[in-house]
Amino acid sequence: MGSVVYGIGSCSPKRLVANRQLEKIVDTSDEWIRTRTGIETRYIAGANEQTYVLAAEAARRALLDADCSAEQIGIIIVATITSHTQMPSAACLVQGEIGAQNAFAFDLNAACSGFLYAVDLAHRYIQSDPSLKVLVIGAETMSSRLDWQDRNTCILFGDGAAAVVMGQSENDRGFIGSNLQSDGRLWPLLYMYGPQSSNPDLRLADNDGSYLRMEGKEVFRHAVVAMADSVHTLLEDSGLAMDDVSLVVPHQANIRILHKLIEKFQITEDKFFINVARYGNTSAASIPLALDDACRQGRIAENDLILLCSFGGGFTWGSALMKW
Ligand code: ACO
Repeated sequence: MGSVVYGIGSCSPKRLVANRQLEKIVDTSDEWIRTRTGIETRYIAGANEQTYVLAAEAARRALLDADCSAEQIGIIIVATITSHTQMPSAACLVQGEIGAQNAFAFDLNAACSGFLYAVDLAHRYIQSDPSLKVLVIGAETMSSRLDWQDRNTCILFGDGAAAVVMGQSENDRGFIGSNLQSDGRLWPLLYMYGPQSSNPDLRLADNDGSYLRMEGKEVFRHAVVAMADSVHTLLEDSGLAMDDVSLVVPHQANIRILHKLIEKFQITEDKFFINVARYGNTSAASIPLALDDACRQGRIAENDLILLCSFGGGFTWGSALMKW
């Protein structure tokens, strides 16, 4: 039994911040950011726009699109690394906000690959109980975990949330397969500590306050190779070719990573959805935000073969195929 997306919705913070505004905070320039990353603006959360607030609004919009009530939801999975609470989960806060009283709810941490992992999990739940409707949300307030004095990282990220409602498929539309991978040995290249320990024996000298830290060049190199490899394996395992794919919707980290992938996949840019210029890197929210934008722009039609791929901290990476 398959699973399919019934509805999709997203929510961005009110404030859109242009590169020029960052010139006032760190030693950078609009020109440097545009040419090195392709980013022009990013949404940054303001008062009362915590991760769960954005997630709950995205969920309401996805439920509306799916013509589904909150009470019909059986599971809520929020992919995030930036809940303002470590406990309860952002997913439980969302449940409370939208009144999904019949659901159980939890967060999933796979950094930028979180949404892919969560969709894969939702598919498996639905396979084992086809009556289930699952709310899968990618939501982040990356701005709350950035070192705003570190120009290497603070210019790259943005905030936002997007959600899908998934349920049983009545036909051959829906989730086809996935290829998910991790390599924990490489964590020092991209990480974010939790709060400093209150147990002095567990205190880390280099925990400077839960900021995201990154070796940009190394991450870039690994990201291109890993995503290309995952997509290649998934297509081969699924008996499909890149020619069968209608649209690639990748994690939006950096335009140069995306151009490298286009080169490796030997496809034209019109088969590749790109919105990193507007949102920056929104981590786990990036793929569902891109899917939502693509739907709104009429770039995705029913029965289209959609290829998702991502790479992020962990390292975690992967790809998934679905017939929309
Ligand atoms: N403004 C101006 N100059 C800057 C900035 C900035 N914001 N940031 C760095 N620089 C400077 C550096 O200090 C360096 O100066 P130097 O030569 O005097 O030392 C110079 O620019 C070049 O720096 P590099 O690090 O070599 O720049 P690079 O071309 O590698 O681009 C970048 C950096 C954009 C971070 C790139 O490595 C990258 O995109 N990596 C991928 C990282 C990524 O996307 N991470 C997101 C999380 S993982 C994921 O989502 C896939």
